[in-house]
Amino acid sequence: MTRVTVDPGRTIGQVNRNIFGGFIEHLGRCIYGGIYEEGSPLSDRQGFRADTLALLKDLQVSVLRWPGGNFVSNYHWQDGVGPKDARPARSDLAWGGVEPNRFGTDEFMAYCAVLGTEPYICLNMGSGSLEEALAWVEYCNSRRATYWAEQRRLNGRDEPYGVTWWGLGNEMWGEWQVGSMSAPEYVREASRWAKAIKLLDPRAKLVSCGWNGWDDWDREVIDGMAGLVDLHSLHIYTGSDDYWTNVLQVHQAERAIACSTALIQRAAYVQKLDRWPRIAYDEWNVWFRTRDGTLEERYSMADALAVATYLNIFVRNCAWVKMANLAQLVNAIAPVVTTPEVAVVQPIYYPFLMHSQAVLDLAVDVHVDGPTVAAPDPPPVGRWAHRLGDLGPFDVLDASATVDLADQKVAVTLVNRSESQEKTEIQLRGHLFGAVLRARTITSAPEPGPLGLDAVNMEDFTVTAHGNALVVDLPAKSFTLLEARMDS
Ligand code: AHR
Repeated sequence: MTRVTVDPGRTIGQVNRNIFGGFIEHLGRCIYGGIYEEGSPLSDRQGFRADTLALLKDLQVSVLRWPGGNFVSNYHWQDGVGPKDARPARSDLAWGGVEPNRFGTDEFMAYCAVLGTEPYICLNMGSGSLEEALAWVEYCNSRRATYWAEQRRLNGRDEPYGVTWWGLGNEMWGEWQVGSMSAPEYVREASRWAKAIKLLDPRAKLVSCGWNGWDDWDREVIDGMAGLVDLHSLHIYTGSDDYWTNVLQVHQAERAIACSTALIQRAAYVQKLDRWPRIAYDEWNVWFRTRDGTLEERYSMADALAVATYLNIFVRNCAWVKMANLAQLVNAIAPVVTTPEVAVVQPIYYPFLMHSQAVLDLAVDVHVDGPTVAAPDPPPVGRWAHRLGDLGPFDVLDASATVDLADQKVAVTLVNRSESQEKTEIQLRGHLFGAVLRARTITSAPEPGPLGLDAVNMEDFTVTAHGNALVVDLPAKSFTLLEARMDS
């Protein structure tokens, strides 16, 4: 039997709801045909697909990154404001399409408003200029009678949008990125941008462009920019047709968080900083199948277990991870898939939904005592290849727990990666279990769902606690959420 000990007395930190962020890019059918479809009977009067919107609302996406991704490095935001029919179509150098510019800044802000999420804009540091970036900040945030604020008013919006989060470029280290740079070039350029943006809008919060957390790029960028930014971003994509590689590779995120927090702490100490950046995992997901310009990945239950584990990792590391953005939300490597007739969900939708709806204020210590599994052997391949050999062994059961001390509630999320059912005892240290408020499990459904996509069964079950323990049978390859009252 596996034993999971949850210790509400040992708090890890406050969970920032921004770990339930999302990302939408002008890529394939993510925006056009996914988020936004003018003339569709399924769209509202702003052109937003109401069915997509309803599914995303349930996810309670806290912060939304836009417009890229690789796309942003050749995106000129001024093409995307003003009367729609006068906006120019442009070549998209990242994904090879044509960008019609009918969904631009004002549409993105309107979308954030209806979705109930906070905007996060990534700036074009590829073909874009600092002047253009400053104009964008002014357009979004200025109350003054300045040129770009006046343009916003002329376009129908009097009040500033008050965009807090601004990303200083996307993956500027990548040779595929328009205008890619060396780390010293990036630090010089991004420092100029950071200082100027803060002069224009001192409330702006800036995100430096990182990589995988342990590369020389991250070291040089953190050393150069730790005093200037609020968050350092990391990206991670994992996945494999090999089941164990697929579900375990996710633990690379823990290595990346550990390495980059060490780099940040070192920079803060050496440079005697009063404040230092935390981490934004502003792109993360399973992605290994599709390499065309659409990225229409079809997800499985194994991928859902990987996504559930990512979220456990962000919760366990909440003292450092202050934002994370699932890449992406619709059609392109996404939990939601649309056709002109319908919007449906893929298996990875459910762990995000369950985590986002259940996670409480404070992450607390969790100890798993049960079977372990060694890192798989096959050498990884591809751009996002991650070596696992020097990590592990890993607990077969991955867990995280959060509590609300005022409301005396606990939420535990359990990813059973075992290929068999596992009897598991959850012990609450220093408290007794009160009523179990919810016990919910997802497993792979035997039959495909709508559009032939893999489907999951989501089932609620009853479980009775005895004192400070409760025992559950976790099905093979499942994700389970337990929410309960805590008594003293
Ligand atoms: O999310 C898909 C792509 O992955 C993004 O455009 C890029 O930033 C990353 O390489």
